[in-house]
Amino acid sequence: MDKGIELKKLEQEIAGDDTLPLRESNLVFGEGSPDCEVFFVGEAPGFNEDREKRPFVGRAGQFLRKYIRELGWKEEDVYITNIVKRRPPDNRDPLPEEIENYKPYLARQIEIISPSIIVPLGRFSMNYFLPAAKITRDQGKLFKAGKYFIMPMLHPAAALRGTDAMNMFAETFAKLPRALERAKNNKWDEAAAPALPEEGKKQEDAQARLF
Ligand code: URA
Repeated sequence: MDKGIELKKLEQEIAGDDTLPLRESNLVFGEGSPDCEVFFVGEAPGFNEDREKRPFVGRAGQFLRKYIRELGWKEEDVYITNIVKRRPPDNRDPLPEEIENYKPYLARQIEIISPSIIVPLGRFSMNYFLPAAKITRDQGKLFKAGKYFIMPMLHPAAALRGTDAMNMFAETFAKLPRALERAKNNKWDEAAAPALPEEGKKQEDAQARLF
């Protein structure tokens, strides 16, 4: 089946799932190309995203989208979504049970799209793929979880909070095209792969969770 049609069906399924939390907010499913190579995943929609029913359209989103364009990429050629697909009240962090409830849908969205590289934005999203990772230590490193290459980055809202974080975000963003090439050529050098010491077991859990 066409990926776009499969995604539409998945969106309808989420819309009709009354077991999901946060149903008082709008569904923000995600947007971009179903044939994308790069898949960005944030935490949860905020005020502006809820209003427009589009991911990353507020201040942090504009910042992210500017960096995407500055790489010479088009926003519509990548895919942008969140783990939790409805806004938590007052923009609070998503609760563990909200993440638990929405994540099977993220896994299916990823399976349909099958991107070359996944870029989690911030620690909530990163820990879904890599439960043992720490954002400041591991952002900008390329991991493999199951069949997917993962390069976590700081959340753009965190990058907007200070010069160091902004520099870190910019440096990691500049590395994305090379990481993508590496992922597309499936060049995985086990020896050079970042280790997550004494937490290998949790890495396996991450794989089991995704698939
Ligand atoms: N922050 C997120 O994590 N996602 C959005 O869509 C907007 C802000």
